[in-house]
Amino acid sequence: KIFHDSDDVSRAVAAEMAQLIQEKEKAGQPCVLGLATGSTPMHVYGELVRLHKEQGLSFKHVVSFNLDEYFPMQPSALQSYRRFMQEHLFDHVDIQPENVHIPDGTIPLHQVARHCEEYEAAIDALGGIDLQLLGLGRTGHIGFNEKGSSRSSVTRLITLDKVTRVDAASDFFGEEHVPRRAITMGVSTILKAKRVVLMAFGENKTSIVTQTVEGPVTAQVAASFLQEHPAAQLFLDYAAASGL
Ligand code: GLP
Repeated sequence: KIFHDSDDVSRAVAAEMAQLIQEKEKAGQPCVLGLATGSTPMHVYGELVRLHKEQGLSFKHVVSFNLDEYFPMQPSALQSYRRFMQEHLFDHVDIQPENVHIPDGTIPLHQVARHCEEYEAAIDALGGIDLQLLGLGRTGHIGFNEKGSSRSSVTRLITLDKVTRVDAASDFFGEEHVPRRAITMGVSTILKAKRVVLMAFGENKTSIVTQTVEGPVTAQVAASFLQEHPAAQLFLDYAAASGL
């Protein structure tokens, strides 16, 4: 779906999420959302907060799983994805704190593998993710699934690509401060979601959007695996779609 600009995309995506949240509530079921960070989904969260405040959209039955977190990372740090989610969404809506899941960047290294297994198990125990929101890294990563992430990859510790660390440098006041690793849901974790909504904006993303949609399905571009998902949609602005 191609829109004039990122605000139009954000409103459309938030409306679809709100509709799903309400449908699930009516059916008496939890709504399991897979959430993303970064500049791309920021305005979707702003719009969801607006719908909560102005139209009473409730998050009481929403359970959320975030895609990723830097490792190591303190939740209170400026760059933590936990903090991003609190500031942009969770602090402003009625989601129950116990329903929020974000990979823990403070876990000791020797416990990370178990933490990742438990993360996968918690998603499965709820019957999987109903809707997974995604941004797109310039390396083609979804979550932090960098080049080489296979279709069967699961939640795990990953080494970040140089390009990803360069892109994050301004957030960390210098590339040398960007963590070298992150915990991320795997490609298979993402592909198990019932619906996937990938968003991308701006000319910076034109080339990787084209590779994602029209290129081969390859572990070199993790997002290309979405071509094989039965219900994946891309929401783009004109600039990001201009190479298609
Ligand atoms: C980071 C995140 C991704 C995000 C990507 C793009 O690497 N881990 O989930 O999609 O950045 O960020 P932005 O939306 O700011 O372009």
